[in-house]
Amino acid sequence: MIDYRPFIDCLGDTALSHWQAPLAEQLAQLFAQLNDGNLPRFLKQLDVLPNLSDVKIDLDTVALSSGKPLSSEQKNQLENALRGLIPWRKGPFRFFDINIDAEWRCDWKWTRVAPHLSDLKNRTILDVGSGNGYYGWRMKAAGARLVAGIDPSWLSVVQHLAFNHYVGDTSHVVLPLTLEQLTPEINAFDTVFSMGVLYHRRSPLDHLNELRGALRPGGELVLETLVIEGGEREALVPPGRYARMNNVWFLPSPQALALWLEKVGFIDVRIVDVTYTSTEEQRNTDWKPGQSLTDYLDPDHPNKTIEGLPAPLRATLIARKPDDQQRLRRYQLD
Ligand SMILES: C[S@@+](CC[C@H](N)C(=O)[O-])C[C@H]1O[C@@H](n2cnc3c(N)ncnc32)[C@H](O)[C@@H]1O
Repeated sequence: MIDYRPFIDCLGDTALSHWQAPLAEQLAQLFAQLNDGNLPRFLKQLDVLPNLSDVKIDLDTVALSSGKPLSSEQKNQLENALRGLIPWRKGPFRFFDINIDAEWRCDWKWTRVAPHLSDLKNRTILDVGSGNGYYGWRMKAAGARLVAGIDPSWLSVVQHLAFNHYVGDTSHVVLPLTLEQLTPEINAFDTVFSMGVLYHRRSPLDHLNELRGALRPGGELVLETLVIEGGEREALVPPGRYARMNNVWFLPSPQALALWLEKVGFIDVRIVDVTYTSTEEQRNTDWKPGQSLTDYLDPDHPNKTIEGLPAPLRATLIARKPDDQQRLRRYQLD
């Protein structure tokens, strides 16, 4: 239904070549058993994207432009197709004359995270919970060789295809998979990102362990998640919903999260950013109508969620998987 073969071919001359066969088989099975009523509706929007010439791509700003002005018919076609893929939670994207002002200013998060990353040039990257691939484009702009986003949301998969319709980059995909479904112990990605996923996992340490399994020895993990203020022994388990979300399990303090990372075998753990989410960074827009952060906060106490819990605070941690020498030394010490 979606042709991932060109991406699977790209894996061939990388350290990920052993992933080609299991991935191809997994995707074939997934599409053979697929019974999702929404996907055909989303894919239909791609068929009506206008074909345009003289396309210019700026991945730093995730923007497309054309040397030739779009006709009003082309503009209408484009706008209808992109509106058929609402809600746009992650962005901003620019599709020619259309600015997709998404719910989240992902460019702000990238600005906080990017200065702390090892150089992404030529790296192979796994982006767990990639959403529509916004950050993947920023990683490609920074020189990444290959970006495999994984996200179980078909809307995200198709939004990514819409942008890639004009970019035509076979080395950047959003695969319709969860981390738990990913081939275990790939042990080969240079960098693994997990941003905005950990708090959705009932077993956060298993999540960290699975992230570790995807990395090559010496590879870098970038972990971003909701946290609370507190000491290294503190974590919040919301009794019911958190900011109206019913799938939030563990919000550790940044220090507790650093300990969890060490516990599952990461080294060189650094807390590089801790920031409260503002109602300017997450808000409803024309491209994501309905409720957003202001509706999830207590109107009288904006430092609390509507449920009376601490308002959303997010931390980014960077850690490394030990290389084989370091593992050996650790083992001898234990
Ligand atoms: C809060 S969004 C974060 C998106 C993006 N990484 C960011 O930081 O803005 C969480 C995303 O993770 C995806 N997701 C949820 N559980 C997942 C899992 N087990 N494996 C991979 N992705 C998952 C969701 O579909 C959603 O797109």
